[in-house]
Amino acid sequence: MLDEIRNKFEHALEERLMNLVGTENQGLNDMIRYHFGWHDPEAQRGKRLRPIIHLLASMALGKTFKDGINPAIALEIFHNFTLVHDDIQDKGQFRQGRPALWTTKYGFEQAINTGDFLAYSAFAILNQDINTFEDHQQTQLNRAFTVAGLDVMRGQYLDMLYELEDIISLEQYLEMIRHKTSRLFSLAFEMAGLISTVPVETLSLLRAVGTNIGIAFQIQDDYLGIWGNSNITGKSTSTDIMTKKKTYPIILGLNSVPEITELWKNKTPLNDETIRAITRHLTDSGIHERTLSAARKYKEKALSDFYNIFKVDTPWRYTLYEVLETMIR
Ligand code: IPE
Ligand code: IPE
Ligand code: MG
Ligand code: MG
Repeated sequence: MLDEIRNKFEHALEERLMNLVGTENQGLNDMIRYHFGWHDPEAQRGKRLRPIIHLLASMALGKTFKDGINPAIALEIFHNFTLVHDDIQDKGQFRQGRPALWTTKYGFEQAINTGDFLAYSAFAILNQDINTFEDHQQTQLNRAFTVAGLDVMRGQYLDMLYELEDIISLEQYLEMIRHKTSRLFSLAFEMAGLISTVPVETLSLLRAVGTNIGIAFQIQDDYLGIWGNSNITGKSTSTDIMTKKKTYPIILGLNSVPEITELWKNKTPLNDETIRAITRHLTDSGIHERTLSAARKYKEKALSDFYNIFKVDTPWRYTLYEVLETMIR
């Protein structure tokens, strides 16, 4: 069932977005197909987690796939806008195991334009053929989407601001990732609640599930940014440390391993030897385990209210639980 939803979603995403892009600007068309992995049937693609979560949550609350499709597509496009810009900002060379868009012949200038185009496409598609909902619901969706988008950008601002700090607290870290990462997950749940007209208390429980699963997901992404397998993640395992990104394991390391603090004083970008030494100290002091267990803790928190929100036993509820459960290992 999950595969069927995934395929149906992928098809709708490609069709609706590429329709909007059109063919009069071939380069723009090519860049977007390349970034999403539609240029090659063998290409690695994103996991499409946010739209899948939105669709399953909407269906678990009694709506249909068709009801959830506009918000779902909008979520995925907006997420990809942030990734295109994020790779430029983070100096991320690889995305989905291929050169990140900005490193290709198009260059970072056109990658910025592509990102901008995607950001606006998200809103355009959120508002296409909107006879499904009442006017006030559509207004609520637009408002939720706008506010969440602004929060993501605040999070990205903090993320890059903190690269320049020697150290940040866990509270600062959590605030940053609640914005940059959790926000689109809380939006995915929130929009499911809005189209299903749930009571306000349920809406806030829905948002909390998204917030906590998002925190867990970012902590896990931080783990993978050091100890992941690039063949699977499609991303590098050195850029986070190289750019002195304040990730969860790094914050633990800076707070408890003096050797790491010493190495951290070297000039940015840190060289390969320093990156290897820091990674070794992090591993030797058990920080990889502590990072994974923090991610699991937030996942448990996310799932703790699940059955208070999704009260009816349906295949959608079952699958949504599975998706959340397997998102964090
Ligand atoms: C990557 O998100 C960025 C983070 C917020 C951690 P995903 O891991 O969901 O990215 P794709 O879309 O599957 O590549
Ligand atoms: C990705 O964040 C972009 C947003 C969360 C908005 P990261 O920089 O943490 O993720 P990756 O590791 O590059 O995918
Ligand atoms: Mg980033
Ligand atoms: Mg990045």
